[in-house]
Amino acid sequence: MNEMRIGVVLGSGHGTAGTTGALVDDLVARVRAHGAASTPGVELNVDTVVVEDLGLGQSCPACLSCMTAGEQACPSYDRAAPARQLMDAADLVVFATPVHSFQVSAAMKRFVDHFAYLIHRPAYVGKPAVLLSTAAGGGHDAALGYLRTAVRRWGFHTVGQLGVNGPGLRRPAYRGRVDAALDELAGTVLAAPTAGEPRPTTADLIGFRVARLLVEGGREDGPVDAAYWNERGWFDADWFSDATVPFLPNRIAATVEKRIRAGIEQGSAKPYRG
Ligand SMILES: Cc1cc2nc3c(=O)[nH]c(=O)nc-3n(C[C@H](O)[C@H](O)[C@H](O)COP(=O)(O)O)c2cc1C
Repeated sequence: MNEMRIGVVLGSGHGTAGTTGALVDDLVARVRAHGAASTPGVELNVDTVVVEDLGLGQSCPACLSCMTAGEQACPSYDRAAPARQLMDAADLVVFATPVHSFQVSAAMKRFVDHFAYLIHRPAYVGKPAVLLSTAAGGGHDAALGYLRTAVRRWGFHTVGQLGVNGPGLRRPAYRGRVDAALDELAGTVLAAPTAGEPRPTTADLIGFRVARLLVEGGREDGPVDAAYWNERGWFDADWFSDATVPFLPNRIAATVEKRIRAGIEQGSAKPYRG
């Protein structure tokens, strides 16, 4: 590998000048420093998309056309193009968000919604992701947990995450711990693109089968998802790639799928009550 491309998706209304942007800069500076020392000659290119600059509007129009007619049918298709191109070209993608009301920012949520077709047609299997959040005091667990689940459905596997409280950075002890975590994360970023895809977990394998159910159930709404799955042979597979599928987790996933199918067919599925 003589070039490494890092894509940054930044969901902060303060753009690159905010606290989240500064955390991304800190990480990138460390990746550059570690890379220069450990892998000299590897050119590091960083592309950033500030999601607020894409002009995606107030929210996803919820027309579902991306799922039924293809992503090109989305009214925001051209506006979302820089983000799609960034994710396509990157060897690793950093998703970074401030915590807003114990969740990702609305800007980041809007971005995620505009790529919802990727739940049906994952395009980033085998591609590593790193997740960052900043907050005044807390909420990283929900924000990072949400991002992790969302991008996993698109295929990404998260190799590292970090949540940082901006005001705490004024205290040297906290700053020191953040710097140490950033150094460790920089090493992870450099290693991830050549480390290969991790083995799918039980949750991943259940996710694969649930996605297949979604696609099968949506055949009458449009042919796009099913054609995508057909082309890739996923209707007859246990997982999206040729990564080794562990036996027991796959059996568990198959049993879960059987139960869900029975629930759908017999109408015995129960409404969610918590
Ligand atoms: C609408 C809103 C909601 C927020 N909610 C939280 C929260 O739930 N928990 C928290 O610790 N900080 C919260 N914050 C503070 C931000 O997460 C924090 O200042 C963040 O580092 C700002 O990053 P930015 O400069 O990139 O926008 C909130 C800020 C805003 C504007």
